[in-house]
Amino acid sequence: MSDATVIVNADIPGPRISRHVYGHFAEHLGACIYGGFWVGEDSPVPNVGGIRADVVEALRELSIPNLRWPGGCFADEYHWQDGIGPREERPRMVNTHWGNVEENNHFGTHEFLALCEQLGTEPYVVGNVGSGTVREMSEWVEYLTRSGSSPMVDLRRENGRDEPWRVPFWGLGNEPWGGGGNMRPEVYADLARQYATFCKNHGDNRLYRIAAGASEDDYAWTEALMRAVADMKAAQFPSLPFEALSVHYYTIGGTWTDKGPATGFDEASYWRTIRRAQAVEPLLRRHIAVMDRYDPDREIGLVVDEWGTWWDVEPGTNPGFLFQQNTMRDALVASLHFDVFHRLAERVVMANIAQTVNVLQAMLLTDPADGTLVRTPTFHVFEMNKVHHDATSVPVHLRAPGAVRELTDGAVPTLSASASVAGGACHVSLTNTDLERSQDVTIELRGSRVGAVAGRLLAPSSVGAFNAGAHPADVAPTAVDELPVTASTVRITLPPHSFAVVRAELP
Ligand code: AHR
Repeated sequence: MSDATVIVNADIPGPRISRHVYGHFAEHLGACIYGGFWVGEDSPVPNVGGIRADVVEALRELSIPNLRWPGGCFADEYHWQDGIGPREERPRMVNTHWGNVEENNHFGTHEFLALCEQLGTEPYVVGNVGSGTVREMSEWVEYLTRSGSSPMVDLRRENGRDEPWRVPFWGLGNEPWGGGGNMRPEVYADLARQYATFCKNHGDNRLYRIAAGASEDDYAWTEALMRAVADMKAAQFPSLPFEALSVHYYTIGGTWTDKGPATGFDEASYWRTIRRAQAVEPLLRRHIAVMDRYDPDREIGLVVDEWGTWWDVEPGTNPGFLFQQNTMRDALVASLHFDVFHRLAERVVMANIAQTVNVLQAMLLTDPADGTLVRTPTFHVFEMNKVHHDATSVPVHLRAPGAVRELTDGAVPTLSASASVAGGACHVSLTNTDLERSQDVTIELRGSRVGAVAGRLLAPSSVGAFNAGAHPADVAPTAVDELPVTASTVRITLPPHSFAVVRAELP
């Protein structure tokens, strides 16, 4: 057991934590769309208009703020007009990125927007820069968001939708430095300016256009995009070229060719994973430093629109489908990322975990054999942390000299925390990544007395614990009753490899 103090300055309001950092990502990949979200109207699996009812019901518990679609890599080979009109007449294609399987285009624009409506979430559509055209992207925006009468509006009406949808978030391609076109940053920066020019604001729909950003630590890519912003500002263009740029950062426990298994991992792989997750903070800070040089007023947002764990696929599954189990280790990776997003809330305006169902670090896993659905440990972190959606971040300082694990190649901090204030209460998220030691944490609240308190804990017996059809709740949150309090403190014991959220009312 080690003792730690977490000082929370509830009276020093920081930036708002956008609920959009709790965003999601659904790609045409493996069983994310087909089998995960979409079963079709004739399926024996209960559905609403072809969309799985149980999946929607479970995800509604997360109040998903936005959903990115159709990719990922798939976005840059997707031609949206193939996914409208009568389903049986839609052209088929090959999903060359993911498993080389046939895509029948049954899940297209109308189905995606119906899914967003059922989830109560905002669409984040990624247009095709890699193999599409400016016209194609421009017409998609018109089809989705324009009212009145125009060629695309009339086509939408023919397909059964009278009113436009509201589409706030628009991606200008995906990973153009790789699968999205193997471009140099300067080339893509120009293309982003060009494509964005023709993504119009129709009626009162306002697009938040997101340029496809860097892979991990490619700060030169961020710099090239920010130079495009600065150049257009200097030339007094009436608007910015785009409103945000993105970055992709995955957490692996080994190397890209040997990422390690999702379950049954060893301690060395565990610590490599934790280190890699912690490294997201300095990495984002460096991207932000580059952005600050060109945009000191912080007009351009940073969107981490792909993040999460990436392990070797489960044995016997299609390597192109990226299906992996999800343990308490994944949950800890998620909670560490959220602490960072909360701390950097002034610039990090949005993030999307990859991906929502059955792919990579999923919230839900569905079993094709019996149709069962399980909530993963990561799901529970998203649910427990909902209290931070749109809350005001507040500074947190750790006094935790014992919260460190000495490894042969250096020390790893084992306690992480972040906090926010909303609705007359302060919420503190706490992560203990130590594998053996509990941490006795005293939360010291500054600027207010401590009122009624409550805690929730995610603390399975092993860090490798996961949920499956036969044991769906091995990792599930529990309420922590009777936390010791004083006028200014709350105490909670964090078991090894655990995550907790403490609520303190501010009287
Ligand atoms: O999320 C899986 C893939 O990872 C995405 O399609 C791509 O953008 C990234 O390389």
